[in-house]
Amino acid sequence: MVGTMMDLESSPLERGNPRARSMEEYRALYRQSLAEPERFWSEQARTLSWFHPPYSILDVDLEEVDFSWYMGGRLNASFNCVDRHAAVKPGKPALVWAKNEPGEYKVYTFRELKHHVGRVANVLKAHGVRKGDRVCLYMPMIPETVFAMLACARIGAVHSVVFAGFSAEALRERILDAGSEVLVTANEAPRGPKKVALKAIADAAIEGLSQVRSVLVARRTDAEVPMRPGRDHWLDEEMGKHRSTCPITWVASEDPLFVLYTSGSTGKPKGVMHTTAGYLVYAAMTHAHVFDAQPDDVHFCTADIGWITGHSYVVYGPLANGVTTVLLESTPNYPDAGRLWEIVDDLKAATVYTAPTALRALIAAGDEVLSRSIRASLRVLGSAGEPISPEVWQWFNDKVGSGRAAVVDTWWQTETGGVMITPLPGVTPCKPGSATLPFYGVDLALLDDEGRVIDGGDVNGNLCVTRPWPGQTRTLYGNHRRFRETYFNRFPSFYFTGDGCRRDEDGYYWITGRVDDVLNVSGHRLGTAEVESALSRHDVVAESAVVGFPHPIKGTGIFAYVVLRPDVHVESKEQLIGALKEQVRHMIGPIATPDRIHMVPGLPKTRSGKIMRRILRGIAAGEREGFGDTSTLAEPTIVEAIIDRVASQE
Ligand code: WTA
Repeated sequence: MVGTMMDLESSPLERGNPRARSMEEYRALYRQSLAEPERFWSEQARTLSWFHPPYSILDVDLEEVDFSWYMGGRLNASFNCVDRHAAVKPGKPALVWAKNEPGEYKVYTFRELKHHVGRVANVLKAHGVRKGDRVCLYMPMIPETVFAMLACARIGAVHSVVFAGFSAEALRERILDAGSEVLVTANEAPRGPKKVALKAIADAAIEGLSQVRSVLVARRTDAEVPMRPGRDHWLDEEMGKHRSTCPITWVASEDPLFVLYTSGSTGKPKGVMHTTAGYLVYAAMTHAHVFDAQPDDVHFCTADIGWITGHSYVVYGPLANGVTTVLLESTPNYPDAGRLWEIVDDLKAATVYTAPTALRALIAAGDEVLSRSIRASLRVLGSAGEPISPEVWQWFNDKVGSGRAAVVDTWWQTETGGVMITPLPGVTPCKPGSATLPFYGVDLALLDDEGRVIDGGDVNGNLCVTRPWPGQTRTLYGNHRRFRETYFNRFPSFYFTGDGCRRDEDGYYWITGRVDDVLNVSGHRLGTAEVESALSRHDVVAESAVVGFPHPIKGTGIFAYVVLRPDVHVESKEQLIGALKEQVRHMIGPIATPDRIHMVPGLPKTRSGKIMRRILRGIAAGEREGFGDTSTLAEPTIVEAIIDRVASQE
């Protein structure tokens, strides 16, 4: 039986399916989750507090690619993350903000969080935000960001957080796509040694855009910024005008909670949409089981709120479970590579959840800083977003955790809402480099290119999920057709992840990387088509092709082949490369800046005009021969010509 709001006394962590303490228990519960999904997910829904419990667990329409979970239920994500904990433990820290400067923290209790969220919710209402409206958040890692997300949820509005590293152009595109009329931003954002002029970027993004009625500006620094009368308002002044109590808007299980843009294989970003009940059940459950969360834990996820990891494991998962969560404003190497471990000691964090790219940068900075901290509070070390190499895994385990903490390599995606393949700490025997085994309810299959399921061990294929799970994306905002085509057309009735994967003889999964044109650069997901379309907006560019190449810190670097227009006369190659990089920064943001740009006489294309990226990836990785069959190329000699150009520019 799914409980109702009255169940406030017991911790959500004490409810739901029990945690496995052994592989036998994991296997038994995993089997049950697939054999009796309704029973399993009904039990799990007890971890939430419902205004009205659901009357059914899952309804699927495969033709329409429509999934609905917990139908008939009414609830509110903000109530689940804030109010129900404030009711029983008002003085418990909910949010610890680790400011940019070392040693500076600000703690918000659940009661304080409730009041701030309530005030921001009232401000949003005063600015005309209603249930279902999309509010754009272009925010740094400050408490107001969390308040604003939960404030949206409180009134049934849908937040669309745009990573603060995106450019004005990219922000504008996302505001337009989501139809956001209210934008929340900050005057400035300290980030390590730098300051990002967020308001100025936001101004440029909405220049001439009457769609945006109100801009609410959080005051992070003393910097004065131009405020357009009637449109721009300081968030603190607005909050001062409103009370801290804001009634909850109960929403239906499948009402949208947020839209989050991510990259795909076309130039246009996709507005991945997550709905309320299924997402929250899944984020909370995975947070509890993957990190073996305890009520008094301090959970430290270093991800930016602009990405799914920030949504699920800085905000919704831990807060739904009533666990104290840390919000990190600085970068992991500011002021030096000891920063994360200093925070771990200061806050007695039980977990650190970060990305391999951060770990690689810390390793490169040397181990001396580790001696400044003891890190004895750590129980679980998590990694997500890209493959973690066995060496980096070992360093995390041996050096950071001193062999005492469990390392969990978690595989998942913006579209999956929460972790899908993961070890359970202290339970699953690990193999460094493998995300190990599927989480409860997650039924995986490897398919060959013809769509046949490949059974058994020691096999390679396209990683698919065979049945719905509660955290699954329901649609792409405003474009259900693209949703179907992107994820369900390639292998009908399977959700296709876009990743290649190996399964070994023990059934362990080893992600081999994207098989589509998506790159994972420093753990940030980017489409090669996005970078290409940014390059092609420069006058001199006739066409371009962008591929990834192995990069020691970023994991994958960006390598761009550019064909210039025939009439272009290049005076300085350096200047042109600089201008092209600037073009990409302007269109997308600094994270998309190509590491290498090479002018080439042409691209290797088949006779039907398709670019053979395999060859370009090989050249970018330093290969000079062995490209296999190139006879289908319209102009086979182009390969040599490209190699010569790349070699001469090295
Ligand atoms: C990759 C991030 C290997 C993968 C949470 C996936 C990983 C993409 C892992 C999603 C992992 C994520 N090992 N690769 N543990 N986790 N990936 O949407 O290619 O930003 O498809 O979500 O990151 O990136 P996204």
